[in-house]
Amino acid sequence: LICLGLEGTAEKTGVGIVTEDGEVLYNNTIIYKPPLQGINPREAADHHAETFIKLLKDAFNNVNPKDIDLVAFSQGPGLGPSLRVTATAGRALALSLNKPIIGVNHCVGHVEIGKLTTPAKDPLTLYVSGGNTQILAYVGNKYRVIGETHDIAIGNCLDQFARSCGLPHPGGVYIEQMAKKSKDNLENRGNYLKLPYTIKGMDLSLSGLLTAAIKKSKDTSGNHTLEDVCYSLQETAFAMLTEITERALAHTNKSEVMLVGGVAANDRLKEMLQKMCNEQNVDFYVPEKQYCGDNGAMIGWLGILQYKNGKRTDLADTKIMPNYRADMVGVNWINNEDN
Ligand code: ATP
Ligand code: FE2
Repeated sequence: LICLGLEGTAEKTGVGIVTEDGEVLYNNTIIYKPPLQGINPREAADHHAETFIKLLKDAFNNVNPKDIDLVAFSQGPGLGPSLRVTATAGRALALSLNKPIIGVNHCVGHVEIGKLTTPAKDPLTLYVSGGNTQILAYVGNKYRVIGETHDIAIGNCLDQFARSCGLPHPGGVYIEQMAKKSKDNLENRGNYLKLPYTIKGMDLSLSGLLTAAIKKSKDTSGNHTLEDVCYSLQETAFAMLTEITERALAHTNKSEVMLVGGVAANDRLKEMLQKMCNEQNVDFYVPEKQYCGDNGAMIGWLGILQYKNGKRTDLADTKIMPNYRADMVGVNWINNEDN
């Protein structure tokens, strides 16, 4: 069984081809560079329409289209216009190849490709990206959302802050570089400025932190630098993420933590989580970069797992699901005795 997966929920277009044995035959993505004011959903959708064609041509130079047995696409969650283009591409491809189609959940895709490409077997997953901030765990036959943001995603928080100070996109990368330059006069660490730290039960909130950080960056009193604000924004946000992950470990009793999503590229976030995992005596895993951010292979792999275990999607049921949560997925591929 060979599955072609189409990813296109927001700003990245991905095509991946995966075999039943979990071998990735092709995996490539193209990112849409948003204008200064941020993602315009309609333009992101136009970008998907152009780039799916390019990626599919390239994919079929590597793998014969006749070898594809199944087409999987990201059905949600995500931006409506992007999802619509992705679903349309999936239907067109399935019909022209005369193969079955399957719609899959993007968030669960991140977890499953992480399990395929790291030693993690049943991890507590912290999924941090431009559009998502969630802690996911398989509990009681379902992937449950153990904790999440009440407002904006962490990547969005970093990108909005960067944009407000004229830093390029993707902001998280540039904030990380700036943060490393912040220096406290007395100690060998950054100059921490107090910013709001908002945890609500197992959830967190980031919009107050964003507003306060932007305000600090515009404060020209000369007491701090932009590097200090970047450092403090990271320290505060990542400490919040680490705290709820630690609490989620206590609730779920998992023995592994996995970090996925575009923000997983951040060294400081990894360092904080690694330290917490050492203290809690649990393993910590981060998939390699191409499987951390959005990618087609994760959609193809989840398609295989679900299809092999009996899930079928009728063409009439391939409508997009912009609010498709991980806990709405009927999990048929995990043997509960293993967990
Ligand atoms: P999703 O559709 O899953 O929400 P996405 O479209 O946001 O994903 P990703 O590649 O998963 O795409 O994540 C992009 C985000 O990752 C951006 O917000 C970007 O600023 C952030 N990011 C990338 N590198 C770093 C880094 N080194 N430190 C912090 N954030 C980073
Ligand atoms: Fe994602």
